[in-house]
Amino acid sequence: MDSTTVDLTSHDTYTSGVPHEELTRLRQDGGVVWIDETEGSGFWAVLRYADIMEASRRVDLFTSEEGIRLEEMDAEETAARRTMMEHDPPTHTRLRRLVSRGFTRRKVESYEPQIRELAVQVVEAALAEHAVTGGDGAVSEFDFVEAIATQLPMRMLGRLLGTPDEDGPFLVEQGDALLGNSDPDFTDHVIDQADTDEFRLMPFRSPAGFRLFDYARQQAALRRTDPTEDIISQLLATTTDGSELTEHEFNNFFTLLVAAGNDTTRYTMTGGLKALMERPELIEQLRGASDDEWNLAVDEILRWTSVTMHFRRTARVDAELGGQQIKAGDKMVIYFISGNFDEDQFDDPFTFDITRDPNDHMAFGRGGPHLCLGAWLARMEIRVTLQELIKRIDSIEQTGDEAYLRSNFIAGIKRLPVRVHARSV
Ligand code: HEM
Repeated sequence: MDSTTVDLTSHDTYTSGVPHEELTRLRQDGGVVWIDETEGSGFWAVLRYADIMEASRRVDLFTSEEGIRLEEMDAEETAARRTMMEHDPPTHTRLRRLVSRGFTRRKVESYEPQIRELAVQVVEAALAEHAVTGGDGAVSEFDFVEAIATQLPMRMLGRLLGTPDEDGPFLVEQGDALLGNSDPDFTDHVIDQADTDEFRLMPFRSPAGFRLFDYARQQAALRRTDPTEDIISQLLATTTDGSELTEHEFNNFFTLLVAAGNDTTRYTMTGGLKALMERPELIEQLRGASDDEWNLAVDEILRWTSVTMHFRRTARVDAELGGQQIKAGDKMVIYFISGNFDEDQFDDPFTFDITRDPNDHMAFGRGGPHLCLGAWLARMEIRVTLQELIKRIDSIEQTGDEAYLRSNFIAGIKRLPVRVHARSV
């Protein structure tokens, strides 16, 4: 047993940023540490890189079927909200194959021109619409999150899903209500403050789940009369064993993509820009960088921001991990964000080093079957957006305090006010 000074389960803990000191202390204090919960069974926090890899990889010992969230859910809730994330292989493999071909590295490379075109539109619109002085070297002031980081992932995800561009803001709003279910800026039904019992069987215990399910049903009906090549049509196709998703499985899968494909990339870009603005010489270094150098920088941004902080597993059997005896049925929370700052894995982990190579970070998970489906897409979106921004500016600075998402799950900067001097021509 260990008594912690910072409550890792409290959403409020994260409104001033990630409690890295506490994570470091726990990592050094054994790395697999029991944390009591006031509402819940308590859990093993798994904080070291090697142990997180092991917990992800050993699906024979540690299952996702009992749920992947820190919050407690009963069996009925877990069943109703189950997606491929809450399945182990082989069911997981069968479900993931429905969509995985749209997300391979090669496939994503073929999206680059489209992503770049969208990034140019988004960046140029942000600079023009928020200009405070005109002419050569114009100055623009805006919230980077709203004006740029939110726009690109939303538009690209819409293209992949095959949904109309004009529905993008609706999908973002609903996705925000899901991943921001503990933040009053994003929902009227703050999960630990309001009575959300009537939504307990919906994704993220959120009313947005109903709205997304309705939307998913409409989109499915459209594809049934007029099949297309997009991801929604792929989800409606038969799986390799000849079965089809039930309507409920389809709705949950669709909702998973909307939840996973927007905010995470947005918050990563934003955290990356903040780190770059703190060291303007890095922005200069990136100006002349090759795509390979950019790719290293993006991986460092991913490590540094580690937006998806953790997921849960449950021990199937009695097992040993990091020197601790885990009992069958114990809840475990694997903190990717802690693994990404593990001194045994990374030299100087608290230095933001855009040339770090190798950089085997675990921002997308690592070692297990659930490795992020959108990893290549997210990398490409982050690189291209930052490239197109930096190309068009002489300098960029933060003009006010950033605001952090109230969430024990997603580490996100939800507002980042900036001033930009457009590049003189
Ligand atoms: C920088 C942005 C992103 C981050 C940091 C991120 C992070 C993660 C993490 C940590 C996991 C779980 C890994 C594990 O348990 O081993 C995951 C899974 C997943 N991600 Fe992402 N993600 C990002 C972007 C995206 C995008 C753009 C999409 C889709 C369009 C996406 C779709 C998914 C899906 C569907 C899963 C579940 C995969 C499975 O269960 O097999 N993610 N992501």
